[in-house]
Amino acid sequence: MAERNIKIAPSILSADFGQLGSQVKAVSDAGADYIHIDAMDGHFVPNLSLGPDLVAAIRPYSDKVFDVHLMLEKPDPFIPAFAKAGADIITVHAECNPHLHRTLTLIKDAGKKVGLAINPSTPIEVLTPIIDQLDLILVMTINPGFGGQKFIPTMLPKISAVRQMITETGRDIDLEIDGGVYPETTAPAAVKAGANVLVSGTGIFKAEEGYEHAIRALRAA
Ligand code: DX5
Ligand code: ZN
Repeated sequence: MAERNIKIAPSILSADFGQLGSQVKAVSDAGADYIHIDAMDGHFVPNLSLGPDLVAAIRPYSDKVFDVHLMLEKPDPFIPAFAKAGADIITVHAECNPHLHRTLTLIKDAGKKVGLAINPSTPIEVLTPIIDQLDLILVMTINPGFGGQKFIPTMLPKISAVRQMITETGRDIDLEIDGGVYPETTAPAAVKAGANVLVSGTGIFKAEEGYEHAIRALRAA
């Protein structure tokens, strides 16, 4: 397997919302590469979370890449607002929309990196017709909506298959995984399968030994 540069993306869904600015700064100082920001609408997933105003509010606390994961049934009207708020990568879900090409074009036209997420039950073939538009592919390793869930092990062969697809494009597309990622167990297996961006909420923000230790341990995967 080729040596890959592993990027760590703390998911602020597990942070203390009362201290979000200082927590974003703390994980940035502790070595995070991306700050993963989960936006949920209560329709696409059964939970509500963060919007563009919050992204703008925490932007001054970090110069890291803001990796915005939109779990929205209708993302299109919100793409300009997230772009203006300071997102660097905007990821939408393949399942949300029968007009993915249009949605991905909107992200590109907003001057942002383009991400596409696929749920555990979504076949990877959905990527084929639009892979040339993508800078990042997010393979969900849980059903989205909540932090603290268990990694679904059957996602490992899916990660390998997506890595194969990326290799065939000859382009440098990030392969991100999200959900149930921990240093000793799931992270090494996922990296071995081909993941290079590891999202972790609980694994970093609730780590007993602190952020820096957790981020280093994940990177060592
Ligand atoms: C869930 C979110 C994740 C979540 C991961 O829908 O997309 O980013 O925060 O949480 P952990 O790392 O706790 O599984
Ligand atoms: Zn996420």
